[in-house]
Amino acid sequence: MDDRLSFSSWFEPLDFHEFRKRIMGESPLFVPPRAALAERLKRDLDVHSADDLLKLRDPMVKVWFHQLDGLHGAVQQKPADARRFYDAGMALYFQELAEFREFEAEVAAALGVPAPFVKCQFFCNRAHARTLVHFDSMDNVIVQLTGSKTWRLGPNTFAPAPLRNWTPLDPVAPEMRPYAPGAPPKDVDTTVSYTMEPGALLHVPRGYWHETVSEEESVSVHVVVTPPIWLDVVVRALIGELARDERWRRSDYGIGLDDPSSRERAGELLASLREKVAQWVPEDIVVPRVQPSAVHENTRFVRCARVTFATESVDPENAMARVTVLSHEYPMATTTMAPRDMRLPWVDACRWVNERATGTSFDASDLRRAVPAITLAEAQEVLGVLEGARLVRRRKGP
Ligand SMILES: [Fe+2]
Repeated sequence: MDDRLSFSSWFEPLDFHEFRKRIMGESPLFVPPRAALAERLKRDLDVHSADDLLKLRDPMVKVWFHQLDGLHGAVQQKPADARRFYDAGMALYFQELAEFREFEAEVAAALGVPAPFVKCQFFCNRAHARTLVHFDSMDNVIVQLTGSKTWRLGPNTFAPAPLRNWTPLDPVAPEMRPYAPGAPPKDVDTTVSYTMEPGALLHVPRGYWHETVSEEESVSVHVVVTPPIWLDVVVRALIGELARDERWRRSDYGIGLDDPSSRERAGELLASLREKVAQWVPEDIVVPRVQPSAVHENTRFVRCARVTFATESVDPENAMARVTVLSHEYPMATTTMAPRDMRLPWVDACRWVNERATGTSFDASDLRRAVPAITLAEAQEVLGVLEGARLVRRRKGP
């Protein structure tokens, strides 16, 4: 598999970085059939037919059909049973395939998203299989491996950049209304049509209307990506940040009763929220690259948002502790300093930094004054370590 075609090469001659920056998640892309690409991917993925997928180790396979109410239905089946439904003319949808984890991780790294955000899936359609018009909340890159399938696409003005999948046959969920306040469309005009033949590539961005019909039996590979969304990133960072402050963790049974004291507390918390967020800089919500550089006596640092220093265990006999640093990122907390053993006076220094409010500025001399058990050189060293772990950043400007 070492000579497997990289995901970024699927787009050639289009430059992958151009695709990621300008097209992915934003606008559709159709690359006409290239028979050599289909041959190469069938070989690399070792998928030529539905049977190649059914014989994989414990594949998650769903039988895909239309219900009488017009909606799509999908029911998971054991591979042998799925084969019988396939023989009866139904489409198969392969969702979770352990054999493609490595490939998913490669795509995730190329797109800068966590590995679980990428799924390599397959549709095996019978002739005349249809998918009714809908939109998805995920981005999709499809390559036709065998047979032919026609896609019809259209821009979505009803619910742009949606947070969930939807078809015009579904009721509009209340959670959609903040970004889909209009009347739900009854007939969707999918204006552009692409016929996918072996080696054709299509990018259907999140939210784009799409429907398909298979002219003949066909197999396609779908790289489905959950996009990184600002809303998720900022909400997660806010939770990491606000949870440090006990006022935000308090329960208050007056909330649902509009108790005047709860209103007063709400006012205080909103003031605290504005104050905290006013200290944030972009590095507090993106993942900054930290280049190590020397810390001087007067190098000034600022306590960052959403990062926490934590003590795992203490060994009082040897005056040591096991410590770690975590960043509260979406979708999960990330370790920015792996657990390591540290002398207790250093731990006190790290704790002092951890307890500063976000945006507080200090230098090595301030740290040494707070924790006299460390030397000035040690204070500089501690700040260098915490900068690498993103608990502090260098203050820009005076
Ligand atoms: Fe879809």
